[in-house]
Amino acid sequence: MSTSSPPISARPLAAWSDGQPPSGPWALRGALLWAEAAPTGCSADLSTCPTGVHQHEDGLLVIEGDKIIEAGPAEALLAARPGLPVDDRRGALLVPGFVDTHVHAPQIDVTASFGAQLLDWLERYTFPTEAGFADEGRAAADSAAFLDLLLAAGTTTAMAFATVHPHTSAHLFAGAEARGLQLLTGPVWMDQHGPPALMVPPAQSAAATAALIEAWQGRGRAKVVLTPRFVPSCTREALATCAAMAAAHPDLHIQSHVAENRAEVAWVAALFPEARSYLEVYARHGLLRPGAVYAHCIYLDQADWRLMAETGATAAFCPSSNLFLGSGLFDLAAARAAGARVGLGSDVGGGTSLSALRTLGDAYKVLNLQGQALHPAEGLHLATLGGAEALGLPCTGSFRAGDTADVVALSPGPNPLLRRRWGLRSSPLDHFFALMTLGDEANTAAVWAAGQQRVGAPPTP
Ligand code: GUN
Ligand code: ZN
Repeated sequence: MSTSSPPISARPLAAWSDGQPPSGPWALRGALLWAEAAPTGCSADLSTCPTGVHQHEDGLLVIEGDKIIEAGPAEALLAARPGLPVDDRRGALLVPGFVDTHVHAPQIDVTASFGAQLLDWLERYTFPTEAGFADEGRAAADSAAFLDLLLAAGTTTAMAFATVHPHTSAHLFAGAEARGLQLLTGPVWMDQHGPPALMVPPAQSAAATAALIEAWQGRGRAKVVLTPRFVPSCTREALATCAAMAAAHPDLHIQSHVAENRAEVAWVAALFPEARSYLEVYARHGLLRPGAVYAHCIYLDQADWRLMAETGATAAFCPSSNLFLGSGLFDLAAARAAGARVGLGSDVGGGTSLSALRTLGDAYKVLNLQGQALHPAEGLHLATLGGAEALGLPCTGSFRAGDTADVVALSPGPNPLLRRRWGLRSSPLDHFFALMTLGDEANTAAVWAAGQQRVGAPPTP
C-alpha cells in the first residue's frame, strides 16, 4: 500500500449514507485488473499484461448509479475530477464481478457428498435434496442462502439450475433482484429415470417455463432459461416439447449437461442409437444455438466441437466438479481450436466451491495435466468477460464505460502463505495468479453489484 499518494478526495465519506455510495459520480481506488477482449500475447512475465487486459497498480474506477463511467490510473483521473468522493480500497485488487456459467442453486447442501460418480451421486444425494424443495418455505430459505453464498464469493452473474418446482425459480429471481445480481434460471425439466417426486409431465414443465417468462423475462436483470436436465432425464416427448418451446422463443437461453461421464455417454448411446453422438441429440432438437450452455463437454470429438462452434452454443468448463465426481479432463485447447464459446462453471454441488478463484485453481491443474497452462489473463477473462460474452450478456464482466458496476475487491486475506506470496511482487496480474492458485471466498473483501455495496465493510476514512 502506498502512503505517499496525494489526498484522495476533498469529501471522501460525507457523501456515503448508510454505507451506500452517493447518487452522483464516485470512485473506488485500488489496484485494477480487467479484460476488454480475449487476451493475446500471453507470456510468463506477469508484470506486463497481454493485449486485451488492463492493469493499474494504483487505479481508479469511477461509478455513477449502476454504471461504470471510466477506469484508469488514479492520480490522472483524480486530477481531472477534483472533489470526487472516493472509497479508498488500496491494498485490495479490484476486478469485475465473476460470471458463473453453470451452477445448481438447490445443491449447496449436496456439496461434499462422499464416494460416488455422476449417476450414483444423482440418485443417492442430488435427487433427494432437490425433492425437498417441494416445501416452498425450504425452497425460499435455501434460495436466499445460495444467493448470499454466491455474492460472498464475488459472483454477480450466474446461470443456475433451479428445481422442477416453479416456486424455486420465482424465489431465486426475487432474491437476485433484491441483491442486484444478474441471474439466469428456470424450472428443471425431467420426466423419466428419477424419483416420482421429481417427475413432471412435459406439458406442465412447458407451462411453468411460460409462466416464468410472463412474470420475469426482461424484468431488471432476470433472464429465464429453458432447462432440460440432460438427455437421460427427458423422454422423447419431453425433448420434442422442449424443441417446440425453443423454436417459439428464439432468444430464450437454454441450459443442460452433455458428455460428462463415460457411463452417462454409454446410456445416451443406448437411448438414442440413431444419433451420431450425445451432443447430436440436442442438435436434432434445435437446442444448440447462441445462449445455449452445455455443462462439461468432456467426451466430445472433433465433429462435436465443430457443431458447438457452428451453432454458437457454449461449453461450461466445470473443473472442480469434473475432479470431484471423477468425470474426466476438459480439453480447452480443443474447444478453442474449433472456435467454440467457453465459460467457467462452479457446478456446485458436483463442484466443491462457489469461488471462481478456487474453480480457476482447479482449471489450471486440469489443463496442466494436459500440457495446457492457463495464463492468469486467460483465467480472468474466462471468469468474467469471456463468460458474459459466452452467455450473450452485454455490459457485463468488464470495466468499460457503460458496463454495469459489478466489482469485487480481493485481498490477500488470512492465509499466511498467500500473504507472503502477495508481498513478493506488486503486479495485479501476478496477484491474480496467486489468488487463483491459493485463494477462495475468504479473499473477498467487498462486493458491489449494480453499483451498490452488498458484501464487506463500509468505506473507511
Ligand atoms: N447431469 C444431470 N444432472 C446433473 C447435475 O445435477 N449435476 C451434474 N454435475 N451433472 C448432471
Ligand atoms: Zn450441472
